[in-house]
Amino acid sequence: MIIAIDGPAASGKGTLARRLAAHFGLRHLDTGLTYRAVAAALLARGLPLGDEAVAIATARNLDLTRLDRDVLSAHEIGEAASRIAVLPGLRRELVALQKRFAEQPPGAVLDGRDIGTVVCPDATVKLFCTASPEVRARRRTAELQSKGGEAAYDKVLDDLRRRDARDAGRDVAPLKPADDAHLLDTSEMDIETAFKAAVDIVDGVRAD
Ligand code: CDP
Repeated sequence: MIIAIDGPAASGKGTLARRLAAHFGLRHLDTGLTYRAVAAALLARGLPLGDEAVAIATARNLDLTRLDRDVLSAHEIGEAASRIAVLPGLRRELVALQKRFAEQPPGAVLDGRDIGTVVCPDATVKLFCTASPEVRARRRTAELQSKGGEAAYDKVLDDLRRRDARDAGRDVAPLKPADDAHLLDTSEMDIETAFKAAVDIVDGVRAD
């Protein structure tokens, strides 16, 4: 079984993906971390974000077992990740890694921007998670502050809007729901409610 979860920044897809993986006994990959890890490595070495050959070489050294959201959660890393995510050759490299992860038994939950459309077009279930920009900015501000970072709501909201526009507007694998995705708007839901709604969708699809 493969569960594909896509959606914009701070839509709740990461938490849902982790909970669903635990519930159904599947492995989990947050594909955003693969873009973040490449971006963090480039930033740490002072390398340019627009050089595709350098980004691809960095991606080839990536170890999927060592991706740590705590280390990679910084706001600047998310921003840099969305800038390198427009590079088609880098995406090909990371998508190949992600597909290999998804194909290993017993199956997996992958979350990202293009899982239902590109990485796992034949996924058993596809969810597209959304929430209003204001709700997402509130969640992301709280998340950054809880990790001891400085985060101002207005700036987080501006940055989220800019990142959404970049992710949805790019030519390769733009953020959009697959035709057969189930939409889950979590604006009015807490984590528990969203999790139950997602389990119902997955169980409903498997019962068909
Ligand atoms: O957690 P948040 O939604 O802020 O970001 P993320 O999921 O860690 O992704 C960071 C950036 O990587 C996104 O803004 C996308 O530009 C890019 N990304 C992508 O292009 N495709 C994916 N499957 C996952 C992330």
